[in-house]
Amino acid sequence: ADSLRALAAKIGLRVGTAIIPYDLDHPDYAAIAASQFSVVTPGNEMKWQVVEPTQGTYDWSGGDRLVQFAQEHGQLVRGHTLVWHNQLPDWLVQGVNNGTISNAQLRDLLHKHIVDEVTHFKGKIWQWDVANEFFANSWDPHPLPDGINGDDFWVQHLGEGIIADAFRWAHQADPHALLFYNDYNIAGEDGTNAKADAVYNWVKKMLAEGVPINGIGDQGHLDTQYGFPTKMQEDLQRYADLGLKVAITEADVRTFVTDATTQQPTDPLAPYAQANYYDGMLKACLAVKNCISYTVWGFGDADSWIPGFFSGEGYANLYDVNLQPKPAYTALQQTL
Ligand code: XIL
Repeated sequence: ADSLRALAAKIGLRVGTAIIPYDLDHPDYAAIAASQFSVVTPGNEMKWQVVEPTQGTYDWSGGDRLVQFAQEHGQLVRGHTLVWHNQLPDWLVQGVNNGTISNAQLRDLLHKHIVDEVTHFKGKIWQWDVANEFFANSWDPHPLPDGINGDDFWVQHLGEGIIADAFRWAHQADPHALLFYNDYNIAGEDGTNAKADAVYNWVKKMLAEGVPINGIGDQGHLDTQYGFPTKMQEDLQRYADLGLKVAITEADVRTFVTDATTQQPTDPLAPYAQANYYDGMLKACLAVKNCISYTVWGFGDADSWIPGFFSGEGYANLYDVNLQPKPAYTALQQTL
């Protein structure tokens, strides 16, 4: 049967994956990355912590490696991510915490970070995740009135207007890149839909103010222990109706496993539930004309972030720890 990328190409969809650039040295990994996917995202290598480990010294090697692989294989690149509260360089966080970096200096540092990174990759990035995970979840104690997380590192130091500034700075540095706001639980996953409503109202306001935002990315980190987010299509459509592109940016579907190494599901039906969830997200995307890409957060379970972040869970990707395709892979293939 045809590859995911070949099938998706026929309907104008890009199907993507996060990549660990150094894993591209493994031929089996590189072969799947090249043959199945038409857009790639660096899992970590464009985050600030990685690109500027020491103040003033850039390391673009991981990102450059990925861009080169993409160009060799006719793939596009999603840049991820310019402003986020996680995976910041130690020197930055320490400087802020011990008072050697003032808020005015922090703003200048962020501006420089965005301009330098977007300029370095100028012309090579299809979609940039400019801002990541700024909205409060139901369990976050200090949401601002519009739903932005008042405890966010950037919001605390620079105010929520920094998000719009980040988009303006990125746009100036590469006017052709599509600029995305990216977050989780913003397309039907959250029971009350409060977070999705907040993002919707915020982005509508940003557009009215002329902020250069082109798209909304829903990460799509699902878990078989919760119901499938049946409002996903409706929520994606609502963003699209504002004239925005939408994308699924980090899809994976975790489940409980016997152990973190073999990642065998404890429930024998989990592989089929997982297939339905992956397929459901794809169908939601396919039903929305402006949904331009469907990206999974890595393809082999051996590389998944899930066992390290969700205790007792795993088996989240399309391929198992031995890079054998699962029912979820077949489900996507059949739908495409
Ligand atoms: C994860 C990476 O996959 C891990 O390797 C890293 O240790 C932590 O970050 N949402 C995001 C991604 O936007 O950047 C995160 O990636 C997963 C959650």
